[in-house]
Amino acid sequence: MYVVATYSAPGKVILFGEHFVVHGATALLCAIDMRVTVSAIPVSDCAVSIHSILGSAQVCMDADPALISPMLRPFHHVAAYGGRGMHMDIRSDIPIGAGLGSSSACCVAAAGAVLHHNDTHDISGDILNLSLAAERSVYPESSGADCAASVFGGVIEYAPDTGPVRQDVKPGIRLVIADSQMPHSTAHAVMSVGRLASENPDNFEGMIHDATDITNMALDAMRCGDTRKVGQLASQNQRLLERIGVSNDTLRDMINLADRHSYGSKITGAGQGGCIVAITDDTNYNDTMSALAAKGYQTYGVCIDMNGATPDII
Ligand code: PMV
Repeated sequence: MYVVATYSAPGKVILFGEHFVVHGATALLCAIDMRVTVSAIPVSDCAVSIHSILGSAQVCMDADPALISPMLRPFHHVAAYGGRGMHMDIRSDIPIGAGLGSSSACCVAAAGAVLHHNDTHDISGDILNLSLAAERSVYPESSGADCAASVFGGVIEYAPDTGPVRQDVKPGIRLVIADSQMPHSTAHAVMSVGRLASENPDNFEGMIHDATDITNMALDAMRCGDTRKVGQLASQNQRLLERIGVSNDTLRDMINLADRHSYGSKITGAGQGGCIVAITDDTNYNDTMSALAAKGYQTYGVCIDMNGATPDII
């Protein structure tokens, strides 16, 4: 009998350390309360098909991955691992292409749905490995941080050498996201930063250390519930992101607006477009949201989602 397995996985916000994490720095991320749900339905023919709000696509199981469209390739990778034809139905409430982890969450939910067993055995490590391999089938340079946050949920400290470590922090922090709605490419941004790193290795090495120091201080501040300090460190991190050329006038405008009320803000994710995140609490959350919305920016108030990838029991 063919069994349908459904898994959901959260999007993410990179709080500290994006880009530098690709070069070995420590980053801090959190899962957010926006999720992707994937139902994996085994089929009798040797094909992988997907259906989502973006449309439908299908490919043969034995197709050459290099010739499969980047949209379908991660799902093909996951289904090929499962060793049988598969239809995957994808539903998402994560904005696409905004740097909030929608592609990683798709890889994680698909991996969960394919690996799922009806027992209590913890498969999160397997889900991380398979989802990361699926993500790297389209974006080989991925640090792995996004998939880790989506698999484990909560607040995740991540360094390429040590992998993910889930952290306990005090509640109270509220995150305001503003979306520039400027299309951007993570691979392109990572490549341009890589070029800068190879042109100025000593200078860049110093920035990697500074980024790790900022992440460590931010984690201490989050553990103590010092949201004001977290915001100040976000602004400090933003100055590093400015230096590596991933900011632009629109992102700066959003950051200036957010900084009128929040404790501090920064780009989240690859930059050159995408989103900023502003650090607030109950006292300045509404004012920060309003200041950004008044200028016409798409805003989202998000909470840290303590749940990572989970089976959906229907
Ligand atoms: O574009 P996003 O939000 O998926 O962020 C990419 C984060 C980078 O540090 C720039 C790249 C990576 O693989 O960690």
